[in-house]
Amino acid sequence: MVKKTEYSSEDEEKNKYDDLENKRIQSREGGGKKRIENQHSKGKLTARERIEILVDEDSFIELDSFVTHQSAKFDMSKNRPYGDGVVTGHAKIADRPVYLYSQDFTVFGGSLGRAQATKICKVMDLAVKTGTPIIGLLDSGGARIQEGVASLAGYGDIFFRNTLASGVIPQISVILGPCAGGAVYSPALTDFVLMNKENSFMFVTGPEVVKAVTGEEISFYELGGSEVHRSKTGICHLVGETEEETLGLVRKLLSYLPSNNLDDSPTYSPLPKVNEQLILRDLIPQKDNEPYDMKNIICTIVDSDSFIELQEDWAKNMIIGFSRINGDTIGIIANQPMFIGGSIDVNASDKASRFIRFCDSFNLPILTFVDVPGFLPGVKQEYEGLIRHGAKLLYAYSEATVPKISIIIRKAYGGAYIVMSSKHLGTDFNLAWPTAEIAVMGSEGACKVLYKNKLNDVEKPEEVLAEFAKQFKTEFATPYQAAELGYIDKVIFPEETRKEIILTLNILQNKREQTPKRKHGVPPV
Ligand code: HXC
Repeated sequence: MVKKTEYSSEDEEKNKYDDLENKRIQSREGGGKKRIENQHSKGKLTARERIEILVDEDSFIELDSFVTHQSAKFDMSKNRPYGDGVVTGHAKIADRPVYLYSQDFTVFGGSLGRAQATKICKVMDLAVKTGTPIIGLLDSGGARIQEGVASLAGYGDIFFRNTLASGVIPQISVILGPCAGGAVYSPALTDFVLMNKENSFMFVTGPEVVKAVTGEEISFYELGGSEVHRSKTGICHLVGETEEETLGLVRKLLSYLPSNNLDDSPTYSPLPKVNEQLILRDLIPQKDNEPYDMKNIICTIVDSDSFIELQEDWAKNMIIGFSRINGDTIGIIANQPMFIGGSIDVNASDKASRFIRFCDSFNLPILTFVDVPGFLPGVKQEYEGLIRHGAKLLYAYSEATVPKISIIIRKAYGGAYIVMSSKHLGTDFNLAWPTAEIAVMGSEGACKVLYKNKLNDVEKPEEVLAEFAKQFKTEFATPYQAAELGYIDKVIFPEETRKEIILTLNILQNKREQTPKRKHGVPPV
């Protein structure tokens, strides 16, 4: 009798283990084999395959794999797949912890219902509590239609958390499928958006709605594909050719970032750079209006192969990105003379100011390379709000309390001199090369104003203007007036730049700056 009871309890126990195993298999299958095949046939990976590629081997711990929706309408009670269309949990990337969620398109098209939102919110809360970056892999039809307002509420809960986590932990969104409607606002609130070249789409209203409302006919790709967001809207920071490459870019990006706003970023041993600095002089053209590629200057000065440019194809007149100097992460901002002479426009202001605020939030020093003829003139720019957007840049530099260093390479004219990390906005060390021209405006423009009457009275005004401009340039378009006034701390030879930056960053590492007590400022957003 006793024995029989023992057998039956063993059986019962075995069944419990089998039951768990079966539930796990069901959960892992998501929407089933057919839908997985369908996902593959579109050239897309599944939610779990993506996680496998993204994180360190065997490091992923899944949470909430048995969560199901509780909706009954539209016959939903008959279909309650485990996981509810999202895989969530924590893992390691380069041996550092991350939280993540990966939407599973094979389950209700990855659409977000109440249960999916609650799962995502749980990992977001855990990420903030533990000071760990959060990564979202998005592939979703948006709000789950069958769940109505409950799914809208779920999005609201996510946006709220995105906002509270901003400046506390790095937030990264990777768009690997559709991301439509209000759903796009979670990525837009996060720090970095990555897209896959094909199959990634972001728009507030899709092609069908656009056609119904405006009559315009447009494809998914043309309306919200990676090309649009990398070059027209600036929403996307990095684009990968394939999903594997896109996920690799996430790993690379994380290698520059601290895990939270109280943490240090990882350090790396730099490769030796002995004689490279000598070529810097040759990178600047003889003529002051001749363009050159500022990226060559940046890459020569920073640690080898360490520069990662963000938003590369949008507002190309302003370069932003992360790099390392002597192994430590720095944020880089630079004018790019190759595009509209490096002048500052609406988009360049937005691009740089958001990046400055990111660096400031996460204690990353800011290094600015200056070659700027001014703000971009024009009716279009004025109407687009150059005043308001330019003010964002002034605000961001002034507000940032992290170590700030600037180097004037060539032009620094007018308001653009002030805005590009000048001494007057609290920059700690302002350096200039002997090629720097710091003035209210370019020599010719200045002489046209100064000598207007004289030029009206002469026979060959162009020749006289050129002579005046030459004299003006020699006398005023140099770094020395600014150096005499202490606005430039040091005029240096180009080949001294790397060493100066390393030593200066070293002395600034314990910088502490107090700002007036307030709830928050009101930037001209
Ligand atoms: C419920 C959805 C869904 C959704 C897709 N599915 N989107 N189920 N709610 N929002 C389901 C489909 O019914 C289908 O189920 C499966 O997912 C795959 O979808 P397909 O249409 O077959 O896939 P595909 O041809 O690749 O097209 C993908 C798509 C399309 C472009 C995303 O499904 C689509 O247009 N969906 C609607 C997108 C949308 O308008 N969402 C609402 C946005 S508004 P079966 O069972 O047939 O496999 C919004 C508001 C958020 O999100 C507000 C936040 C503040």
